[in-house]
Amino acid sequence: MLTNDELARWDRESFFHPSTHLAQFARGEGAQRIVTGGEGCHITDRDGNRLLDGFAGLYCVNVGYGRSEIAEAIAEQARELAYYHAYAGHGSEASITLAKMVMDRAPEGMARVYFGLSGSDANETNIKLVWYYNNIRGLPQKKKIISRWRGYHGSGLMTGSLTGLELFHRKFDLPLAQVIHTEAPYYYRRPDLSMSEAEFVAYCADALEKLIAQEGADTIAAFIGEPVLGTGGIVPPPEGYWQAIQAVLDRHDILLIADEVVTGFGRLGSMFGSDHYGMRPDLITCAKGLTSAYAPLSGSIVGQRMWDVLMQGTDENGVLGHGWTYSAHPIGAAAGVANLKLIDSLGLVENAGTVGAYLNQQMRAAFGDHPNVGDIRGEGMLCAVELVKDRDGRVFFDSSEGTGAKVAAAMLRRGVIARAMPQGDILGFAPPLCLTRAEADTIVGATAEAVREVCG
Ligand SMILES: Cc1ncc(COP(=O)(O)O)c(C=O)c1O
Repeated sequence: MLTNDELARWDRESFFHPSTHLAQFARGEGAQRIVTGGEGCHITDRDGNRLLDGFAGLYCVNVGYGRSEIAEAIAEQARELAYYHAYAGHGSEASITLAKMVMDRAPEGMARVYFGLSGSDANETNIKLVWYYNNIRGLPQKKKIISRWRGYHGSGLMTGSLTGLELFHRKFDLPLAQVIHTEAPYYYRRPDLSMSEAEFVAYCADALEKLIAQEGADTIAAFIGEPVLGTGGIVPPPEGYWQAIQAVLDRHDILLIADEVVTGFGRLGSMFGSDHYGMRPDLITCAKGLTSAYAPLSGSIVGQRMWDVLMQGTDENGVLGHGWTYSAHPIGAAAGVANLKLIDSLGLVENAGTVGAYLNQQMRAAFGDHPNVGDIRGEGMLCAVELVKDRDGRVFFDSSEGTGAKVAAAMLRRGVIARAMPQGDILGFAPPLCLTRAEADTIVGATAEAVREVCG
């Protein structure tokens, strides 16, 4: 048996961690946690800590940890058929069943689902499909993609470009030229405080209209957005936002990609965010909640109008030259089938709506009037607490003070994980969808105490 110290040393010496300060980690500074187990909404680590995971890993362990139904489905699949590819019409019972289950749950107008492994690769697939679509339609100039500042769509070359967060571009020579960004629908950070919500929606739609006019609608293929901005700050859209944006896109023959990697399969209290907000996407990206992260799997759900053109494309050009070795991996698919069954049988979509609303309401009641709490917002099982230096003047803290990170650290000392979001002093909450009211109370209590400890 390895001692904790040996593992910790191997970790510092051998392991290149994602999204980590590499130099600090190598020097033995900064956080290091070796996670050993999980049950329900809690994880445990090698140092004996038991933590309430208010972020469900990276908003992905939607059914909670330690579900033996999924573990057994994975084991059985591994024994029976660990792998076969999905190229050229091949499949497994698990991948075909999962495709049917996804399509049964998908919003109206969707035609097929392509399975990949991660949210990033699903978005790469989507952009390729958009380009292919416009080439088949004889519109080779119509290729640019509009994304939003503060959007998060992954960290590959294309998807990192779509992501509208500076950290993901800096020193990586991103974004690529085909990607342009427009306003984030972030009412709390509106440019003019006197704007009403309706005026701000009109401002966002107008900014999009102007960007399209400036670039030329005949050069723009698609708009990508998360129903609720996630990593950019957990920001639900202002009332009427998606209707206003959809109207602009429709006018200019621009496709809509709904990135539902976070919102897909229940997090908002609806099966999909597109249904929740009345969006009519041409493509839907899903990942995390598809398997609750028990195995890597993502989906690109393709709408009928694109599907018809893709079929025409293969009649004209032969096989679609796109696929991964691990597309529709049987083990991921088996995990997905067991996961979607559990979401149904445990009533987790409904629980996300009711307990999520309770979590948001209790946060507001507990410390909504604190002078350093500028905004508490959320939808379903998503919540954000935005910390500011001065609430009345909406003066933000200097980022060098690291206030959000300090509050998250103070919460950890109380046994609760919140995520200090990467841009702004924003505490993010996205617990497993099975969160109970008692667990919501624990999260709220720890947040209230930590905010008072750090901010006074
Ligand atoms: C909305 C959204 N899209 C895409 C991704 C990328 O997914 P992955 O990290 O699985 O590549 C994420 C990850 O957090 C996400 O939140």
